Amino acid sequence: MQNRFKDDAISDPAHTGPRHVAIIMDGNGRWATQRGRPRLFGHHAGARRVREVVETCPDIGVEYLTIFAFSTENWKRTQVEVAGLMSLFRRYIAKEARALDDFGVRVRFIGDRVRLDKKLIKLMDELEVLTSGNTRVNLTIALNYGGRDEVARATKRLALEVAAGNIDPETVDEAALVKFLDTQVLPDPDLVIRTSGEARISNFLLWQSAYAEYEFVDTLWPDFSREEFTRLCAKYGSRERRFGGVKT
Ligand code: FPP
Repeated sequence: MQNRFKDDAISDPAHTGPRHVAIIMDGNGRWATQRGRPRLFGHHAGARRVREVVETCPDIGVEYLTIFAFSTENWKRTQVEVAGLMSLFRRYIAKEARALDDFGVRVRFIGDRVRLDKKLIKLMDELEVLTSGNTRVNLTIALNYGGRDEVARATKRLALEVAAGNIDPETVDEAALVKFLDTQVLPDPDLVIRTSGEARISNFLLWQSAYAEYEFVDTLWPDFSREEFTRLCAKYGSRERRFGGVKT
């Protein structure tokens, strides 16, 4: 269905909260360990938190939510954990597709699909197609994603266009490269949140977050709540952003 939730789109010029929030969902492993359970138990609990955060977005004016589900570095984890996460992603998509669509969520995936299994890729494609007409929340799931990898892949594609004579190298600038990034249709994130007390960005949206605000909170991802998400977005609204300029 096309634009079922168009009226929910934020058009209020007085809206000061973030339009695009990106989240590094960290702390699942520690959450499980604290309970004497295997790490995958924490990832399953983490997956259950996603729905609540997505469903909070329209209430607080967040139009785009981008979440870091699996990084290009996460393959270094044990085979059991990697296989468990891949299985979780397949089950998550199969199980949540209907609810996400019913809520008006448009789902996109970013990251390099080459190392992902065919079954998972098929589910990702189907979910993107199923939800392509929705506008209430734009949920982007970063899967086998790394910021440096994304810029390298974009550069390669741009170089191929130059080599083919389709792009004049003299015209290559920031805007030209952006067109080749996985996130080309998304606005830059305004706010990046990382849970679990680690103050790192771990190769997440490196290019896109050049002027983002950051919030590092101690909460482990499976404990992250609607209230905390709302509080962090409200705090963002009270900050002054200068994008390298000065206050006028
Ligand atoms: C980091 O916690 C989390 C991950 C590597 C996986 C994130 C995945 C989920 C939240 C679940 C699935 C999401 C979707 C969209 C289905 P960690 O394992 O590094 O935690 P630790 O630092 O405590 O070890």
